[in-house]
Amino acid sequence: MLPVDPVNPDPAVIAEAAGVLRKGGLVAFPTETVYGLGANALDPSAVARIYEAKGRDPNDPLIVHIADMEDLALVCRGVSPLAQRLAAAFWPGGLTLVLPRGARVVPAVSAGLDTVAVRMPSHPVARALIRLAGVPVAAPSANRFMRTSATTAAHVLDDLDGRIDLVLDGGPADAGIESTVVSVDGGVVTLLRPGVITVEAIESVVGRPLAQPGARAATGSPGMMERHYAPAAELVYLPDAPIAELVSRARAEVARGRETGILLADADAPGLEDEGFTVERLGPEGDLETVAGSLFAALRRMDTAGVEVIFARGFSRAGAGLAIDDRLRRASTRRGR
Ligand code: TXA
Ligand code: MG
Repeated sequence: MLPVDPVNPDPAVIAEAAGVLRKGGLVAFPTETVYGLGANALDPSAVARIYEAKGRDPNDPLIVHIADMEDLALVCRGVSPLAQRLAAAFWPGGLTLVLPRGARVVPAVSAGLDTVAVRMPSHPVARALIRLAGVPVAAPSANRFMRTSATTAAHVLDDLDGRIDLVLDGGPADAGIESTVVSVDGGVVTLLRPGVITVEAIESVVGRPLAQPGARAATGSPGMMERHYAPAAELVYLPDAPIAELVSRARAEVARGRETGILLADADAPGLEDEGFTVERLGPEGDLETVAGSLFAALRRMDTAGVEVIFARGFSRAGAGLAIDDRLRRASTRRGR
């Protein structure tokens, strides 16, 4: 793990990391959304190592990261005027575009699809690293497959220590939640994953409502898996319940002897400190960016504390709230383990 200044990254540190990438190694690095686990997107064995290190399903495609607009032509073919408009509006930043895949990108990056997801991050460390590596960098979130995304370098090591070559520690990721993923197919922009860029902001550029993935895509398409972003604990998401109900259910679990946690907003039910359960307050109810950015770290702290069951409240689904609701739903889907 190498510390790096997030605003003015030390060129020597970036050079070392870029060298690892060029040799086919894996480097975890901070972005403005979450930490990414990077490899050279043009090197088949480097890309294979990402799937291995994460334990990732080979059918779940990766995002390719670029540092400059010129690199888009290397990664994709036939970038439509609408895709260009979206890139101009939101890059560098937290929007990922799914476009036709360019010939030089390793097919495994896209899990064999003829499309590729691409994004230009704004984080100075990410940009400097990609630029100096001189190649597009395939990077999923730097967590073990199906786990909560890493928002700090320590989270990366918790999941991936011994499996990757280097972590650049640039402090906590700014947003703390992943990019928004949309596909652009002709004039149709489809929301594949809500994230840090709001649907409202994208629609204001597109000029009409985003399409929703069809029923088949929602279950069968890559990365849209129901169960994802999961803490070790059972997560009970109660988006419509009053806070009093979460509190009484948490009390009942404590009475049964289970390690219990509860995810709330700052002002909810003050004075829960001596109830025998862990309380995580995600931020002011009305500040959805803060709540979204606190969620993954809070879930990881619950895991570290040995919590077995977590009750989570709902928030408004407007703006950044859509991503909060998506992650809590996926984290709460029952699974057979
Ligand atoms: O903020 C982020 O997006 C972070 C940082 C590191 O950039 N990356 C990230 O990557 O969250 P990952 O691999 O955890 O999520 C990538 C998402 C998945 O939902 C994946 O299925 C989708 O993008 N995706 C990638 N390629 C795709 C494609 N060709 N078609 C449809 N979805 C795709
Ligand atoms: Mg991920």
